[in-house]
Amino acid sequence: MLLTASRRMVFSASRRLAREGWSADENERIYGAGRERAWGSGENYEAHVVLGGTPHPRTGMIVNLAAIKEALQRLVEPRYDHHFLNLDTPPFDVVPPTPENLARRLLAESTAACRSVGGSVVACHLAESASSGATAYASGLVEREVALEFSAARRTCSPHLSDAENRELFGRAAAPAGHGHGYRLRVVLRGEPDGKTGVIVPHGEVDGALSALHALLDHRHLNAEVAELAGQPMTTECLARFIFRRLASDLPVARVRLHENPRFFADFDGSAFGMGLETSFSAAHCLRDPGLSDEENRRIYGKCSNPSGHGHRYAVEATVAGSLDERSGTLLPLPRLDRALERAVGPWDHRHLDREVEAFRDRPSTGENIVSILWPLLDGLLDGWLARLRLFETANNRFAVRRGGT
Ligand code: NI
Repeated sequence: MLLTASRRMVFSASRRLAREGWSADENERIYGAGRERAWGSGENYEAHVVLGGTPHPRTGMIVNLAAIKEALQRLVEPRYDHHFLNLDTPPFDVVPPTPENLARRLLAESTAACRSVGGSVVACHLAESASSGATAYASGLVEREVALEFSAARRTCSPHLSDAENRELFGRAAAPAGHGHGYRLRVVLRGEPDGKTGVIVPHGEVDGALSALHALLDHRHLNAEVAELAGQPMTTECLARFIFRRLASDLPVARVRLHENPRFFADFDGSAFGMGLETSFSAAHCLRDPGLSDEENRRIYGKCSNPSGHGHRYAVEATVAGSLDERSGTLLPLPRLDRALERAVGPWDHRHLDREVEAFRDRPSTGENIVSILWPLLDGLLDGWLARLRLFETANNRFAVRRGGT
């Protein structure tokens, strides 16, 4: 199992992707930047620096996140925030500041910055907008992420089940007239960024494949109007597989994630299916070691050591993975995942974790300890199906446990 803690850093910057000497058409085809001029354009960037390790038995943390926060601020503020990357931030005077190149560079720089305070960086995820980002991994792997939204109606059902079985399994979602969702699709592309352009796939190729998919699915009744989907179960899992296979004929797709709503998604990587559901609980807590002085507690836990406590609305996202039941087109009945999550975190809702929850009597309620305690509890309720568990403490701090450790 791999445990990670992520710290977000944000910066706003201008950057120019369009290359001098290239035509507007060529810059549009490679970067989607045919309209950019010498001074470029801008983005509000978000980078998540992912640290791996084992929680220290006493502090309950992989690494002192307060120290990581300061180390990352010392990196981002002088070099990236409110700068023109092509002029102010080498090597982007020479190297195109594509999401792929930025993620790689931020991985290298955050690795050095975090090492100085004892942190081991395993990945850096950079989002340049809601629909475009990249992730660089310590293994050398780079992925590009693009997103697409579409609205569609459907009747959730499998042609291999009887009407009664469909009603039993899918409830109101199996009603004959159908229902609708605003879907959000995230596509992950994998490959070596081109040395000259700095992109894994030129913008024009990605845009062409996504536009064709959008034209096929957007504002359609999926059962009635999309012939390509006929004969197979109409579930979010099967839709994710259909989309993966269709895009994989044109693009180096590593995996797709299809959000049916902000709380629920299915993903497919060409062989395995995943299904994720998010819930939340609201709790008070306090990170404070009674054996240490106020000053020591502040050094280790920062603001979280406030003696009278503080709290969060924690979001918990559980992902199960495995193979599909082809008859029903489902990985696991959604109500089962929903009930397991409720049983696991429900008792923590509206409690003070350290004072009222037995599991934290001897362990500080750090994000690392919360996911470590929650994993066996939830995995037991799901008969070993759990593949990943994420905890969002704030927009800046998130924690995750994955089975296997990749
Ligand atoms: Ni806290």
